[in-house]
Amino acid sequence: MRRPVTAITRQVSASINNCELSFHARQPIDVAKAMAQHKAYEDCLAGLGVRIVSLPAEPELPDAVFVEDPAVVVDEVAVISIMGAPSRRPEASSLAEALSHYRPIKFLVEPATLDGGDVLRAGRFIFVGLSQRTNQEGIAQLSDMFRVYDYQVQSVEVRGCLHLKSACSYIGNDTVLVNRSLIDAERFRGFELVDVPDEEPAAANALLVQDVVIIPASFPKTRALLEQRGFRVQTIDLSELQKAEAGVTCTSLIFNHEAMAAEDRGV
Ligand code: GLY
Repeated sequence: MRRPVTAITRQVSASINNCELSFHARQPIDVAKAMAQHKAYEDCLAGLGVRIVSLPAEPELPDAVFVEDPAVVVDEVAVISIMGAPSRRPEASSLAEALSHYRPIKFLVEPATLDGGDVLRAGRFIFVGLSQRTNQEGIAQLSDMFRVYDYQVQSVEVRGCLHLKSACSYIGNDTVLVNRSLIDAERFRGFELVDVPDEEPAAANALLVQDVVIIPASFPKTRALLEQRGFRVQTIDLSELQKAEAGVTCTSLIFNHEAMAAEDRGV
């Protein structure tokens, strides 16, 4: 049976053109179009039965729409991170407040840095990218926090892209969509690997919601490949936020809605 799912999202900041960029050259972002595309993304999730909790924009924080990065949420707990980009760290407080209605909250502490975009969960396995944004200490602290809930945390070195989930995504059925040039895919031994087409190297970021894989409309070959393999796929137009180095996972924080019983939380 499907579990009810909630997505926290946040409205696009009018200052999005001042976003952080690490591997992309800056291009002008059409803010009104970005806002309309983000609304269509929320509608896509809602159409799949996801309950949307849409937070107001943070006008002074250009990257605040990327709510995936300040937190890592599992059934038992929400961990508030210290993001790798100092300009983004003030995004965390309003997100922590929103998450406190659903989960007990824990905090990483310095010198840890970690972006949620570096965290890929597949059942009880959690892979964390060692990247420009996430350091060894961040991975070690997350591992210590999650071990008590019986998650196995493993690190994966990321090269040439922003986050682990720029390089690979879990798409269900024990399968990982991957661009092997950006990570050591051996780390995913035991999973079925689907390679993104050579023509679409940036297509490895995919969002699994229920049994549907959401990808950007700009990757038609990846769509065809996934459909050939029996996956249900939906596409969305992400053209504006892609210029801010976004993928489909970045703009929501999705978790099972049912509150954990207090005794299950160990409180
Ligand atoms: N622009 C998204 C990020 O760099 O975090």
